Amino acid sequence: MSLLPSCGYIGGSAVRDFEQEMRAYLNVPYAVSCASGTDALVLALRACGIGPGDEVITTPFTFFATGEAIAAVGATPVFIDIRYEDFTMDATQITAAITPKTRAILPVHIFGAPCDMDAISAVAKQHNLVVIEDAAQAIGCAYHGMHIGATADISCFSFYPTKNLGAIGDGGMVTTSHENIYTILKALKEHGAGEIGVQAKELLEGESQPHAVLQSTNNSYDPYKYLNSLIGYNSRLDAIQATVLSIKLRHLPEFNRRRVEIAETYTNGLTDQVVVPRVVGEGVHCWHQYVIRTKEKDALCTFLNEKGIGVGTFYPIPLHLQPAFSYLGYQAGVLPQAERAAKETVCLPIFPELDTSEVQYIIDSVNKFFDQHH
Ligand SMILES: Cc1ncc(COP(=O)(O)O)c(C=O)c1O
Repeated sequence: MSLLPSCGYIGGSAVRDFEQEMRAYLNVPYAVSCASGTDALVLALRACGIGPGDEVITTPFTFFATGEAIAAVGATPVFIDIRYEDFTMDATQITAAITPKTRAILPVHIFGAPCDMDAISAVAKQHNLVVIEDAAQAIGCAYHGMHIGATADISCFSFYPTKNLGAIGDGGMVTTSHENIYTILKALKEHGAGEIGVQAKELLEGESQPHAVLQSTNNSYDPYKYLNSLIGYNSRLDAIQATVLSIKLRHLPEFNRRRVEIAETYTNGLTDQVVVPRVVGEGVHCWHQYVIRTKEKDALCTFLNEKGIGVGTFYPIPLHLQPAFSYLGYQAGVLPQAERAAKETVCLPIFPELDTSEVQYIIDSVNKFFDQHH
């Protein structure tokens, strides 16, 4: 790798190339890399001017970062329930959750299942709300023939190592078709600095007073370089991650095809004593996780672990019941589908390197558990 002797570890052509490759892959006009999926969400919310006093409608059945990002910008997460079939936001509940403070809807394509974007976009349009999609688990998903990432006002990706497109460290990206949002994202991710910071401030606050430093006649330095117009972040994808991600992106379609094969094998082979996941309505699943449901979750997990099979239980505590969100005052029982999912889900191993005999061993083991226990 010629990158190390070049010392260009931050920014540079590797990052620009990867952003360009993601634009081409997703078919979106703008892609801004950043340090993580969590940062992608924070940047997206800030780029829409969302902050204290605003509400954002989202799902409680997700990784903590979704709700955390909303709270981190000072806004209030408003949790609505999920659909039984695919664990995504129940779009029929959005309207009832809208108040004069609502600014955005934040659906999560959880486990790689595309949300009901038609219904979500229709409500958003009717109420003049922004749609920010959490696509952290959804690279390679599609909806009406478009990649997820081109299906909302703003889309947020994570390149956490276990994701379908995983880095060898942290990484994230925001994509959008709105030029104004792009400008603000670019400014916010690097301290609100530079000429782009001035433009972003104008877009966010309508302010266009030239700063005194720009009127200086001393042109021996770039007057914008240390001019900070917004309180932003240090949120950059490093060049090593970008290089790795560029290489892996070329293989993503084949990796995702293998995930589909594994998912189909599970669905065809598993006993009907578990509820297998299914794709609801329009959309192509990218099988970030293969999640079954059973009332015997704990016993099944113990059994599979004893057989050397690593299983996950995402997400055992829905966000509205997390201690960090106790200030919002949600009580147990208010979002029954999310709470039920939290008690019933078991994630079976799914990754491209899993071979056919291993998949069969996992199916046989799950089926054996139910044979022995019934
Ligand atoms: C649904 C969801 N949202 C947000 C994130 C946050 O991404 P990151 O870990 O890259 O900050 C993740 C992944 O970890 C995720 O799965």
